[in-house]
Amino acid sequence: MISDLNTSTRFLLGPGPSMVPPRVLRAMASPLVGHLDPEFLRVMEDEQTLLRLVFQTKNELTLAVPGTGTSGMEAALCNFIEPGDAVLVAIMGFFGERLAEIAKRYGAQVDRLERPWGEVFDPAEIEAALKARKYKLLALVHAETSTGALQTGIPEIASAAHEHGSLLVLDTVTSLGGLPVEIDRWGVDVAYSAAQKSLSCPPGLAPITVNEHARQALQQRKTPVGSYYLDLIGLEKYWGEPHAYHHTAPISLHYALREGLRIVEEEGLEQRFARHRAFAEMLWEGLENLDLPLLVPAAQRLTTLSTPQIPATVDDALVRRRLLDEYNIEIAAGFGPLKGKVWRIGLMGHSSRREHVRLLLGALEDILMNG
Ligand SMILES: Cc1ncc(COP(=O)(O)O)c(C=O)c1O
Repeated sequence: MISDLNTSTRFLLGPGPSMVPPRVLRAMASPLVGHLDPEFLRVMEDEQTLLRLVFQTKNELTLAVPGTGTSGMEAALCNFIEPGDAVLVAIMGFFGERLAEIAKRYGAQVDRLERPWGEVFDPAEIEAALKARKYKLLALVHAETSTGALQTGIPEIASAAHEHGSLLVLDTVTSLGGLPVEIDRWGVDVAYSAAQKSLSCPPGLAPITVNEHARQALQQRKTPVGSYYLDLIGLEKYWGEPHAYHHTAPISLHYALREGLRIVEEEGLEQRFARHRAFAEMLWEGLENLDLPLLVPAAQRLTTLSTPQIPATVDDALVRRRLLDEYNIEIAAGFGPLKGKVWRIGLMGHSSRREHVRLLLGALEDILMNG
């Protein structure tokens, strides 16, 4: 006989998923209604209203596609790329690499602009590349979860993209709900995120927002979108009139996202960003005191994901194992060029709390100092 499911109650302080507030779990337990039930259509309408609030946009085409952040990435690329289109990807870590790979699979001619992992781009560098060749689209990551670095200067990058006739696609998976993301003010054409990071919902939905400029590009396509499931025109007809069946929506995940977004609205965006900053600063100070200096300079550091450097004398895997076994704390390893060099500590959404920072610092001190 297979035993009862009995998972541990972990402190999720890694790069996601983050901890889910009980209110969100309770919302998920609400009775299922059908995906075309008028009550469910109202749930989706609420999600759209609240997503516009967190994305800070008036974009009509704002919804959540089924799947995790990668599904958002695919949707943001496959709807705007036609085979043979030139695409520029600015890569400063693993998720920039993934953007380039997905764009290639949808038939784009991909040019890569790269910075070493842990660094960010000077917007002028991106502008120079946009000037050198005409691109249909520029894609980049706002908050690079593999390194802990925040790409600043998005408004400058957006205006350079527009000046040179490109759409800007921005990955806000690790920023939305924890760090300012101002889609309209910054002039971002397409942005996507994921439910399980600073929105503190279970994984399985990817918010996406598309402005009028990008929507026109969608309508002017000459070939059908490479993915049926993520075709925004089909999705839009389900989310809005005529509410035509497109796929069976993951009902309980939408209940969760609606509740998670209501919590964001209740807290207020500014207060939420300030909370993420306050506890990140507390974490950074504690890490420095434990001789675990941060990889990324303060001005480009994510408040949602921190990357302390691991001293050569410390056994990376053993420390993470002990945090999990002895303290129920999950943090994550570095990967790619940062494998064995950094840990990745997330304080996202409901995980960003004073008691979690204290607990983690205490546990690290215990393991590192007392053996
Ligand atoms: C910046 C970024 N983009 C995309 C993704 C992909 O999201 P998922 O793993 O939910 O598919 C992640 C996941 O960590 C991410 O951090």
